[in-house]
Amino acid sequence: MNDGLFITFEGPDGNGKSTQIRLLKEYLEKKELSVIVTREPGALDIGKKIRDLLLNPVYKDQMTPEAELFLYEADRALHTKNLIIPALKNGSIVISDRYYDSTTAYQGVAGKIDLGLVLLCNKIASYGLIPDITFYLHAELDDIRRKTTTEEFGVADRPESKPDDEKQKRIDGFYALSTLEPERIKLIKYIPDKIDAMQSEIRKYVDKILKS
Ligand code: TMP
Repeated sequence: MNDGLFITFEGPDGNGKSTQIRLLKEYLEKKELSVIVTREPGALDIGKKIRDLLLNPVYKDQMTPEAELFLYEADRALHTKNLIIPALKNGSIVISDRYYDSTTAYQGVAGKIDLGLVLLCNKIASYGLIPDITFYLHAELDDIRRKTTTEEFGVADRPESKPDDEKQKRIDGFYALSTLEPERIKLIKYIPDKIDAMQSEIRKYVDKILKS
């Protein structure tokens, strides 16, 4: 399905994804390649509304695990159909900050939804589109605990307000996924003062795919 290249970044909150995505974009644009950076949830206008429903802590008492799953998947279906697939057909490199592995780790492994059901919903919402390569930036809980952001809502968002044991399960989930699909999911160890070394490792993988 891909004429372009579909790259995703995954991992727990605070693992330095945004910085690595920015650096990779700069690198690829220097090669005069067309690069589109996007994210889940909230890439499209309609997705921004879904993002608010999902992350805004004001809804924390009303949200249910099932509603949360369907909202992430609704955002994904709109994002994949309207943005990612057309951009790939155009030959662009699409870099997404999160995709369905986040749902598997957050709502499946760490959440309350049956894993088989999550995988089925992921398949429906992604129209079967699988990333060409996924970078899982693996961070330890201690590294990310100090990095809770309050920029979007003035306080920590809903997923970031969850207890440490749930955050650890997310990390375990991503880690397990990277061992189950090592061809697609590349584990890059997050080391806060080794941003450049992490980026070099990522670029090596991307260069290899571009050559092939
Ligand atoms: P971020 O854009 O800052 O990474 O925040 C998105 C949050 O949503 C983050 O805490 C992970 C969470 N999330 C899920 O729980 N499931 C999903 O499927 C996706 C895409 C994100």
